[in-house]
Amino acid sequence: MAARVIDALQYKLVAVDRGHIEALYEWDRLEPNRQLYTCRPVKALVDVEEYSDSLQQKITRGELIMYVLVSIERRHLPLGRVRVFDFNARNKSAEFGYYLPSHFRGKGLGGIMLTLFLDQVFSFMDINKVYATTSSGNLRSIRLLERLGFSLDGRLREHYWVGTERFDQLNYSILSREWKRGRPETHGTDFGQADVKFLSSGSYTVAQVGSNSPKGDK
Ligand SMILES: CC(C)(COP(=O)(O)OP(=O)(O)OC[C@H]1O[C@@H](n2cnc3c(N)ncnc32)[C@H](O)[C@@H]1OP(=O)(O)O)[C@@H](O)C(=O)NCCC(=O)NCCS
Repeated sequence: MAARVIDALQYKLVAVDRGHIEALYEWDRLEPNRQLYTCRPVKALVDVEEYSDSLQQKITRGELIMYVLVSIERRHLPLGRVRVFDFNARNKSAEFGYYLPSHFRGKGLGGIMLTLFLDQVFSFMDINKVYATTSSGNLRSIRLLERLGFSLDGRLREHYWVGTERFDQLNYSILSREWKRGRPETHGTDFGQADVKFLSSGSYTVAQVGSNSPKGDK
């Protein structure tokens, strides 16, 4: 799998590479709230080799495209991921899902990642519409999609069962022409810009730059 650079700014969205797999696997392994991010049964995690093979096979079969957000300083270290699937060649649509591990949330990286993603799909792929689903309890995700100009297409009632709580599923989409007309500024105060600083120990700090938005875990 070759990584493809699509942005020349501080962050890039690149196609997932073998070198990213271990980090992606660890995100899934350590995520305590996987049931918040899918309405489907949450499967037990397979081992890392099986995870890697399964991902590779789906990509090879053309069922899945996966991008990771990286910093230009450390492109081997993924900060977040976007998965694109359910490609419909007839109406030129596809679904996508997005994820940041908890230590990278609430810093504006989600907006940067999806902005780069929408630039990518609507510039380089023959796609008219992309859509995403989220739980009505996922306020940060809802805010992010609405901020980027997505429209709420519908609501599936009580579609997410999380413990004893039931949330609706919200279906959002954006068309190519809508994105090209209304793309927000990625950098500066309008959208916020995360500043990820890597330390020599191999760990990192993340600071929010230029945003007046409320932050916090949902
Ligand atoms: C959803 C996700 C991609 C958002 O990315 P992020 O970088 O954490 O989001 P941001 O910090 O840019 O916040 C997005 C918006 O939500 C707002 N927000 C944050 N916490 C909020 C809360 N508790 N209530 C309401 N809004 C909130 C932010 O202020 C921001 O709005 P703004 O753009 O007007 O400032 C990320 O949190 C994530 O990966 N979460 C886990 C997986 C997930 O939920 N995937 C999506 C659905 S399955």
